[in-house]
Amino acid sequence: MIDQASVQSVLKAVLDPETGRPITQSNQVQEITCDADQVRVSIGLTSHSAPLKQDVQEQATERLRLAFPDVATISVQIVAHQRIVPQIGQVGLRCRSVIAVGSGKGGVGKSTVATNLAYSLKKMGCRVGLMDADVYGPSIPQLTGTAGHLQQEDGKIKPMLQDGMPIVSIGFMVPADQAIIWRGPMLHSAITQFIRDTAWGELDYLIIDMPPGTGDVALTLSQLLPISGAVVVCTPQKVALLDAVKAVAMFRKVKIPLIGVVENMSGFLCPDNHKRYDIFGSGGARQMAEDANIPFLGELPITIQMRERGDEGTTGENLQDPQIAPYIDRIAYQVARRIADQTRLAPATPQLPVLG
Ligand SMILES: Nc1ncnc2c1ncn2[C@@H]1O[C@H](COP(=O)(O)OP(=O)(O)O)[C@@H](O)[C@H]1O
Ligand SMILES: [Mg+2]
Repeated sequence: MIDQASVQSVLKAVLDPETGRPITQSNQVQEITCDADQVRVSIGLTSHSAPLKQDVQEQATERLRLAFPDVATISVQIVAHQRIVPQIGQVGLRCRSVIAVGSGKGGVGKSTVATNLAYSLKKMGCRVGLMDADVYGPSIPQLTGTAGHLQQEDGKIKPMLQDGMPIVSIGFMVPADQAIIWRGPMLHSAITQFIRDTAWGELDYLIIDMPPGTGDVALTLSQLLPISGAVVVCTPQKVALLDAVKAVAMFRKVKIPLIGVVENMSGFLCPDNHKRYDIFGSGGARQMAEDANIPFLGELPITIQMRERGDEGTTGENLQDPQIAPYIDRIAYQVARRIADQTRLAPATPQLPVLG
């Protein structure tokens, strides 16, 4: 017999990507219409799960098909579901998933990957903040075409808004040509301010562009709040991979879980003949990820337009570029997928690391 209860019972097996719990547990199955010919359901997902909408839809459809093989029409619709984002850590930040984007050294495209990842998640429907923690070489203002000075409001730093995305960077505090010597406590306090004293609002994802190499910013962050994981960016050639291995070791040392590795500049897409040239080789990062037992999240080729957009401050336009957007979206999807998988395996709220 097909009735509401039997449909609910089938949908118990579908897990909410955000909480890792059955979607039937928190009123996410919002409507069920069923008779002998049709089963129609609508499932509510939060904006955090937006990148995984299709997965949930396919999964639910498949389950219902298996359970009710004689029903002609099975239709699963995904609709919006609201859920308050809890504060994480002890710093008052309301954010579901904090993602650190790091690399072993500069110039491999870490800021480019962080920025494109942020734009892609936003395009998919998530609420995203972008924090430039590369205090030594802040490039998020340049890549996103954002200028100005951070203002305070009600004792909180007001992030800059670019394409509706809140952005914070040390580049909005000191002139671009000025050198700062960062001492430990100063570094710690700047990073703390960016997290604790900034009016981020409610976020699904906070993407943090980390400084290359050294672990001090990573350590500060890991003490401030639970970080869902790190994305390590590297280029395919051997000398670069060695640095990436160090970055992986650094994140492991400060107990930030690894979401995976992105291979950037993995092949040049030539505009003249549409051929691909593997200038730095290719597949090296995938192999490195495999060796280090961490997921490979995808590759990003080199294109002239990406470099130009970086220089012009129009990185967001990559997401409308049919040549490059699929690569970026694939990485963003993989990041969301891995975070959901982590949550499913350990659905309890992550514990804040002990300050030491
Ligand atoms: N896939 C790519 N295709 C073209 N240019 C890229 C690509 N990735 C990065 N770049 C360019 O390379 C330079 C360094 O990238 P950036 O993201 O600032 O590196 P990092 O943050 O690792 O120092 C920038 O000019 C950027 O626009
Ligand atoms: Mg950078």
